[in-house]
Amino acid sequence: MTSACYPLGMKAREHAVPARTLRALRSRLLDWYDENKRDLPWRRTRDPYAIWVSETMLQQTRVETVIPYWERFVARFPDPAALAEADVEDVYASWTGLGYYSRARNLHAAARRIVDHHGGELPNDASALRELSGVGRYTAGAVASIAFDREEPLVDGNVMRVLARRFAWHEDVGDRGVVERFWSLATDLVRGPRPGDLNQALMELGATICTPRAPRCQPCPLRRSCRARREGDPEALPVKTKRTRVRSISAVAAWMTRRNRALAVQRHEGGLLGGMWELPGGPVGQDETPGQALVRTIGERTGLRVSGAEPAGEIEHLFTHRRLRVHVFRCNDVEGRVRLDGFAAHRWLSAPSLAELPHGGPTRKALALLGVASDLPHRARLRGATSTPPR
Ligand code: ADE
Repeated sequence: MTSACYPLGMKAREHAVPARTLRALRSRLLDWYDENKRDLPWRRTRDPYAIWVSETMLQQTRVETVIPYWERFVARFPDPAALAEADVEDVYASWTGLGYYSRARNLHAAARRIVDHHGGELPNDASALRELSGVGRYTAGAVASIAFDREEPLVDGNVMRVLARRFAWHEDVGDRGVVERFWSLATDLVRGPRPGDLNQALMELGATICTPRAPRCQPCPLRRSCRARREGDPEALPVKTKRTRVRSISAVAAWMTRRNRALAVQRHEGGLLGGMWELPGGPVGQDETPGQALVRTIGERTGLRVSGAEPAGEIEHLFTHRRLRVHVFRCNDVEGRVRLDGFAAHRWLSAPSLAELPHGGPTRKALALLGVASDLPHRARLRGATSTPPR
């Protein structure tokens, strides 16, 4: 790896920032944070469980979106024991609309481990935290520092942007070795007073001032020492040349009814949207029209024969690395008995009950397209559901 700042062969730990610079940076960040931090509900608690839930929600989701979800979640599941005891489908229901449901599944599994192995309390050091499902380096650092005052670093996109600009690091942050150098710098930076606030100050600065586009350098506490600002083009940093190719895929989904009940199928646990409910369907093959794919995939995956399906429209959903286009159909002519292949369960439900099942973004959009909307998106009425088709 070549580097604008480091001689060839320099190791990741040797980020070469002098201790005196680190001290000044810490002090500026903490002073700024004290004056400018947002009043967020999880900053009013010291409860490690509530902080862990907030950091998990914040990993892929914006602060404004997270706030009401976090408030409802910690009210409904106030501690690890309450979460561990809950039915995982109730946990999913509380997550409906937040996306990335593996986070909810992992929280639930981790809560069970906390009850079984840690007496119901979150472990207070980063390495024990990392043994919990879904807790990676970032979350362990966040919880250990914010909830337990541990000098543990964290690096996310905001932190990398702030540091890349402050030190004018022009290396590609898509490169793993470069990311390690950020962790090394964050490790040295967090060794000092108020590690949790220091980590939050870095993230907060990245989220509110040192933004990807049009950073607001004027009120920035680091403006005098910021090398990117001196170079004249802070927006150019951080450098990210490796673009992950977004793959486009096409699928079909069907609103299949019998006597006013529609069929919902549940995905197996694990993977993208694991455990979520959706309308039956599947991918469109290379040489198929969506209509042909519908008849084939419904037959293969549910054992049912559909005819006279009518196109209802299309929806598009962007996952991190996939663009999914779903052709949505209405089918009232459905024959046969359900024999699932590739799904975990099925239910025949009235439209409002189906809309209340935990589901992902594509299904939410398909239901909106079909005009099937729930007034109560956060309640799951799963137990009243029936698995047998109405006669
Ligand atoms: N992003 C994720 N966690 C955060 C926190 N605790 N403070 C600011 N931004 C964040």
